[in-house]
Amino acid sequence: DKIALDAAKKLAAITAVDQWVTEETKVVGIGSGSTVVFAVERIAERVWKDGALADIICVPSSYQARLLILDHNLTLGDLDRHSKIDVYIDGADEVDNAMVLIKGGGGCLLQEKIVASCAKKMIVIADYTKKSLRLGEQWCRGIPIEVSPQAHVPVKLKIEELFGGHAELRVALMKAGPIVTDNGNFLIDWKFVAKREYNWDEVNRAITMIPGVMETGLFVDMAIKCYFGMADGTVKVQN
Ligand code: A5P
Repeated sequence: DKIALDAAKKLAAITAVDQWVTEETKVVGIGSGSTVVFAVERIAERVWKDGALADIICVPSSYQARLLILDHNLTLGDLDRHSKIDVYIDGADEVDNAMVLIKGGGGCLLQEKIVASCAKKMIVIADYTKKSLRLGEQWCRGIPIEVSPQAHVPVKLKIEELFGGHAELRVALMKAGPIVTDNGNFLIDWKFVAKREYNWDEVNRAITMIPGVMETGLFVDMAIKCYFGMADGTVKVQN
């Protein structure tokens, strides 16, 4: 249930923040989604209650992250001035055994990948439902792909032709029509063939090369550690 999941997310977030955000950390990248909320709360607690981490600068990966940083009265940074990020902390929709991530379930992936690429280290925080041996084990909407609005049909058809499965435009719940990302783009959710053996590095490169694709929600060789909050109240660390 939601209470147990939130407890697991919080535990993962606190453990990772306490491990990776230290007095030496000057710039921290802030991911997006529901798990990251607990990480920002922890950073704020360290700053405002413990008087630690003076002058830490937070670089957001989305509009949501920007609001989180501002709401907690932390110092907002940006890539123009702070493109060297010490550590980037973010959630994930699914994490496989080789630490390939699916991200973008919450609609933010282009900026997340840019900020992650500027970080010396990317650390993932997640609850136990995100942990898989191979991608596709968990229920998910598929792999999110951010596309230029004019290209959503050709990109969808190309992905299906190249790699099978089914790709569909993500539509909004509270608005008629497609979801528009923070960057003014559309999202395609590609439901790949769960039983097929994919080389995710190759798939990611091939999809990125399709004209109109802005970024994929496949994060290959980016995260160095993942903290999973488990159902029994422990934290599992994956390298
Ligand atoms: C944002 O679009 C995503 O990439 C999130 O980082 C990811 O979906 C994890 O979100 P939760 O922490 O809400 O599971």
